[in-house]
Amino acid sequence: MGYTTIGSKFAGIEAHTRYFVPLDENLEIWQLTVSNRRAKPARISVFASVEFCLWDAQDDATNFQRNYNIGEVEVVDGVIYHKTEYRERRNHFAFFACSEPKAGFDTARDAFLGPYRGWDNPATVAAGQLTNSIAHGWAPIGAHQVNLDLAAGETRQIVFVLGYQENPVDRKFDPPDSQTINKKTVKPVIAKYLDAKEADAAFDRLRAHWDKLLGIFQVDTPDAHTNRMVNIWNAYQCMATFNMSRSASSFESGIGRGLGFRDSNQDLLGFVHMVPARARERILDLASTQLESGGAYHQYQPLTKRGNNDIGSGFNDDPHWLILGVAAYLKETGDWSILDELAPYDNKPGTEEPLYEHLHRSFRYTLERLGPHGLPLIGRADWNDCLNLNCFSSTPGNSFQTTTNRDGKVAESVFIAGLFVHASRELAAIAGRHGHSGDATCFLTAADRMEQTIKTHGWDGEWFLRAYDSFGEKIGSKEREEGKIFIESNGFCVLAGIGLDDGRAAKALAAVREHLATKHGLVLHQPAYTRYYLHLGEISSYPPGYKENAGVFCHVNPWVMIGETRLGHGDEAYDYYLRINPSAREEISEVHRCEPYVYAQMIAGKDAPTFGEAKNSWLTGTAAWNYCAIAQWILGVRPTYDGLEIAPVIPTGWPGFTATRIFRGVAYKIAIERKGAGNRVALTVDGAPIEGNIVPPPADGRKEVSISAVLS
Ligand code: BGC
Ligand code: NOJ
Repeated sequence: MGYTTIGSKFAGIEAHTRYFVPLDENLEIWQLTVSNRRAKPARISVFASVEFCLWDAQDDATNFQRNYNIGEVEVVDGVIYHKTEYRERRNHFAFFACSEPKAGFDTARDAFLGPYRGWDNPATVAAGQLTNSIAHGWAPIGAHQVNLDLAAGETRQIVFVLGYQENPVDRKFDPPDSQTINKKTVKPVIAKYLDAKEADAAFDRLRAHWDKLLGIFQVDTPDAHTNRMVNIWNAYQCMATFNMSRSASSFESGIGRGLGFRDSNQDLLGFVHMVPARARERILDLASTQLESGGAYHQYQPLTKRGNNDIGSGFNDDPHWLILGVAAYLKETGDWSILDELAPYDNKPGTEEPLYEHLHRSFRYTLERLGPHGLPLIGRADWNDCLNLNCFSSTPGNSFQTTTNRDGKVAESVFIAGLFVHASRELAAIAGRHGHSGDATCFLTAADRMEQTIKTHGWDGEWFLRAYDSFGEKIGSKEREEGKIFIESNGFCVLAGIGLDDGRAAKALAAVREHLATKHGLVLHQPAYTRYYLHLGEISSYPPGYKENAGVFCHVNPWVMIGETRLGHGDEAYDYYLRINPSAREEISEVHRCEPYVYAQMIAGKDAPTFGEAKNSWLTGTAAWNYCAIAQWILGVRPTYDGLEIAPVIPTGWPGFTATRIFRGVAYKIAIERKGAGNRVALTVDGAPIEGNIVPPPADGRKEVSISAVLS
C-alpha cells in the first residue's frame, strides 16, 4: 500500500515513474511520465521488465534441475501471462500489461539479457529492440518495449500493470478442455487500470487512505527531522513492521521466521492508533498461540496462525509483551471487551479462556520460574535473542536459539525482572479497572517484591546488572573484563520507574551516557566481547561492534530515551533521539549508508571497523519503540486508560510545538508553550484550566477539543 517515485533525466528527456499498490487489489501499478524537453521531436524507446519467480522461494533458489524445465508463459493481446505449474496443481498466475501499443516483448531471460550480461545492461536494450521470445523452461521473465514519438515539449503517460490472480479450480482453462488460462477473470481489471484516469483515481484513493492514517497524529515542532519522521515515515514503517514482522525484506528472505510473539506485541505499540481493529485481531491471534504454562511459542505462522514448533518456546520474556500489547490497545481504544474475548491455548479447542486469564498466566509464568536470587530465569534468551546462557554450543550450524545444554535453573535475567515489574503494574491497572481489585493487589505486591529483589541482587553499585550466567556469575558488572554494562536492564528498569525514588535510576542512566553513548547512538554493551564464549552464546559470535555484540541496536535506544524523560531530562532524551533519527543522519549518508527515512535494526558500534554504518532497515522493533519515545514521552502526547495525557519532556531550547491527535474519535488540537525551563504542565481545555494533565474525551460527545499547555 505504498508508492515510490523514481525520476531520471538525460539529453532533454525527463522520466518519472510512480509505483504503487492500489487498495484491495493484487496489483502493482507503474505510471511512467515521459516528457520531451527538447526543441525538436524525439523518438524514444521505453523498456520495462520483471523477473517471475516460480512461486516457492525456497525451491526456486535450489531446485534448478526441475525448475529450468517447467517455465511456461502466454502472450495474448500484448499481455504477458506467467503460468508455470498452472497446468497441474496451481490455480494462480501472474500478468504484466502495458497501456501502449508494443514495439516488442520478451519472456525468456536469456534472450532479453543476452549472454554474460545482467539486469543492469540487457543486450536487447542496448540494441534498441526486444526479440519477442517465448520462454520454454529456463527463466521466464516479462519485458515490454514501447516506442514513442514525442513532439517538442510533449508529455505522455504509460501505465504498466503487474498482477496476480487465483482462478476457481473448475474455471481454470478457457476453453475448459484446453491448457489455456481462463483470462475472463482478469481482463476487466487489466482494462480498468491501464486507463490512466482509473490509475490516477486508484492513486488518489490510496493517498486519501494514508492521509487519514497519518492524520491521526501530526506535529509541528521546531525540528524538521522530527516532523518528517513523526508525521510520515516513522508511522509508515510501523505499518510495514506490523504487516511483515521480520519475514520479508532485503535482509529477511521471506522463508524463515513467521510472526514473533515478542516482536508482534511490540510492533503494535506504534501501530495501534492507526488501525485498532487489526491490532485487536493480532492480539487475539497471539494469545491463541500462548501455551497453557503461560509461556509462548517464540513465533507463529501467519497463514496457519499456529505456533512454530521448529523454534518452540522458552524465551522467558515473551509472555510479558502480551500484557504490554493489550495495555497499549486498551489505552488507545478504551475497548475493555477485548479482555472477555475467549482465546484457546496453543490453538487447542476446549482450552478457551478470556484474554484476561491469558494475561494472568503470563504473570504467573515468571513467578513459577525464579532463580537462586529470586530473579526470573532467562530460559533460552530474553529480549536479547543472542544472550544464550543455557546453550553451550560448540557445534557449527547449531541454532543458538534452540540448542540447550544446561538445565536452565541458574541463569537469571535482570532485564526480565524489570519487564515483569513494568508489565505487572500495567496488569494491576487493567485488573483494577476490570473489576478484579484482589488480583490488582496481588500484581502490585509481586511487582514491589521484584523491584526490591532487583535493588538487592540486580544492582552493581553504579548501574543495573544484566544477568547471572549458568554458573551464578554476574553479567554486566564492573567485575567483568568484557560486557561490564548493558543497555537493556538499565534502559528498561528506568523506563519501569525502578530507582526513580532512590537515585539509582539517575545513576544508571549517567553510567549509560558515560560508557555506552557514541555519536552514532547507544551501543548495547561495553566492552564488546572479543572472543567466543561458550557460556554466553550467540552474543559473542559476532565480531565486536556488530549486532548484539555491542552494536548500536536501535530498538533499545528508545528505552533509554523514555528513561531520560522519566528523569525529566528532555535535552538528553532528545539528543539520543536525534543520534539515530534516519532523517537527521541523511547528511552523513556516506557513513550511514542506509535509507534516510527508515530505521535500521543496527548501526555498527564503536568497536566495528565500519562504525556508524546502518544495516537491516525496515523490519525492526525500532520503528514502534522510537515512535512511542518521541510521540508519547518526549512530545508527551500519551494515551492512558482514562484519557489523553499531555506531559511533554522536550528540549529546554524549544519554545513549544503544536500537534493534532485523533484519540477515541475526538480531534485533540494541542498547543504547547514553554514559559520556563522545566516540565511542569498547566493545562487549559477549551479555555478552562483543568487539574492534572489527563484529558478524557468530552462526555457531551463533542468531536474536537482545544488544549493549550504551558510548560514551566
Ligand atoms: C540475530 C538476532 C535475532 C535472532 C533470532 C540472530 O542471529 O542476531 O537479532 O533475533 O537471530 O532470529
Ligand atoms: C531481533 C528480534 O526480532 C527481536 O525480537 C530481538 O529482541 C532482537 N533481535 C534482539 O536480539
